[in-house]
Amino acid sequence: MTLCAPPRPIVSRIRSTRFVLYRRQFPAVTVWDGPPFCKGQSERHSSSKSPIALLKLTPLPQTLKQKAAEVVHSDLPSGTAVTVNGWIRTIRKHKKYAFVNITDGSYDKVLQLVFADPEQVNDLRVGVSLEVNGTIQRRDNLTDPYEILVDNYDVIGGVPEDEPYPLQNKYLSQDYLRRELPTIRFRSLSSGVTMRFRSRAVSEVSRYFEENEFIQAHPPLITSSDCEGAGEVFSVVSESSVTPFFGKKGYLTVSTQLHLEALMMGLSRVWTLTPAFRAEKSITSRHLSEFWMLEAEVAFVNRLEHIMSLVEGLLRTTLRRLKESGELHSVLSVKTFLEKQKLQDGEGEDKDQEITHAQVLQRWDGMLQDSPWKRITYKHAVDVLQQAEREGKARFETSAEYGDNLKSEHEKWLASQYAHGPIFVTQYPSQLKPFYMLPTPGSNGETVECFDMLVPDLGEIVGGSLREYDYKRLKATIERVGMDSSELEWYADLRKWGSVPHGGFGMGLERLISYLVGIYNIRDVIAFPRWVDHCVC
Ligand code: 4AD
Ligand code: MG
Repeated sequence: MTLCAPPRPIVSRIRSTRFVLYRRQFPAVTVWDGPPFCKGQSERHSSSKSPIALLKLTPLPQTLKQKAAEVVHSDLPSGTAVTVNGWIRTIRKHKKYAFVNITDGSYDKVLQLVFADPEQVNDLRVGVSLEVNGTIQRRDNLTDPYEILVDNYDVIGGVPEDEPYPLQNKYLSQDYLRRELPTIRFRSLSSGVTMRFRSRAVSEVSRYFEENEFIQAHPPLITSSDCEGAGEVFSVVSESSVTPFFGKKGYLTVSTQLHLEALMMGLSRVWTLTPAFRAEKSITSRHLSEFWMLEAEVAFVNRLEHIMSLVEGLLRTTLRRLKESGELHSVLSVKTFLEKQKLQDGEGEDKDQEITHAQVLQRWDGMLQDSPWKRITYKHAVDVLQQAEREGKARFETSAEYGDNLKSEHEKWLASQYAHGPIFVTQYPSQLKPFYMLPTPGSNGETVECFDMLVPDLGEIVGGSLREYDYKRLKATIERVGMDSSELEWYADLRKWGSVPHGGFGMGLERLISYLVGIYNIRDVIAFPRWVDHCVC
């Protein structure tokens, strides 16, 4: 079935989106009405005798966000009858009226229900799910466009009378929500805004790749090799079979890069967003055992700058669009609300509240600064760190040494104090990096063409490199580092048939999101975090 908008929309277009609402017969059907989806298809529609199949589809109940948009853009007058659904967040009972706020997670606002008879809310409790029939009361002078004067309602799902609703209407830290309320936390203001932000960020990233002619690929999650060679793999075994299920060892992927390279050798520009699994025992705010990694691979590039510019372009465009579409504003208004709530109710240390509204803005400004992000070599970075320590400008628990990995404290200092924003550190010593990286020309194999992209307060968000594309040199490196060459035969063979210089990167989605929304621990920007000894539900 071809899905496309019919030639003549019955009512007007909602401003700022490209959706058309079909009122009257089909109250909530939304049809994509913009190019390129419908390009060249209108003629077929106008000459077609049969009605468009889409119009017979059953509309979903409107979300509160859709309803608010309809009230505003279609100028629905007070008195219009409506039905809405949601969960009760607060109940306020006065002498003459009662007010109940409901949410449905579709946006960060609540809808106020007004009950002319306060007795009507006697049976209601916070947390209950409702279907409400009533009439619109416009509130054009306020930030909320309307409220509903309730005629009647149905309780869809009640709550136990003898147990307090777990999500109390007071400040609850991320730590508490994650530990104590791992499933119901998605109804909280903070979790809701984070999940919506994550979803929009992924859409924008996807749009950027699409616009730049990248093919979205779906590499496997079960592999037979350890891409990063760090030995941090989880094995895949079948509970019902004594012999190895795949006839040999199988692992959950630590990175889809190697398979993405195979796809790239035919499709030129590929990207993917997949779970990645690492059996790292690091219990830090930046490490998960299961996280989402966005990876891209590009053919016919022989300069690291190409890949760094791709990362910078992707993130700048994504952030600009998220800002323009109001996502940053939503994050900040929730942050401000929680800051006030914490002042009233909260006690004790709370890392999330240490990242203020102002700091989040500073992070975005740093990413969207007018000048290109700084780039320095690893060697230069070590010099800068050593000099800063000598001059008393920085104090590190471990001094930076040439040949050692940069510690998290070094990465944070470089981004915060040296670059005041994102920074690419390039050309690390080859012994610190995986086998697949291209040696820096003229370095005698001492360094490789790679980068880590670091941001203030957090450190590494992206890692990327040019890849070795010569068959013999790659085989020699695999031998030298002592990897199992039989498992990597297929990977080396990619270099046999018309190999091309290429490169790519991997970005931790949770690290990016936590940085942009100002949440301290990446466990709080993924729905069900897993780390060592923790796999709750
Ligand atoms: O730097 P990494 O290990 O690079 C790779 O895996 C490459 N094969 C990617 C590529 O070039 N296609 O991981 C990439 C990013 C890191 O910069 C970090 O943001 C994130 O993945 N990451 C983690 N995020 C959460 N928890 C962990 N345990 C992570 N390990 C890496
Ligand atoms: Mg890395």
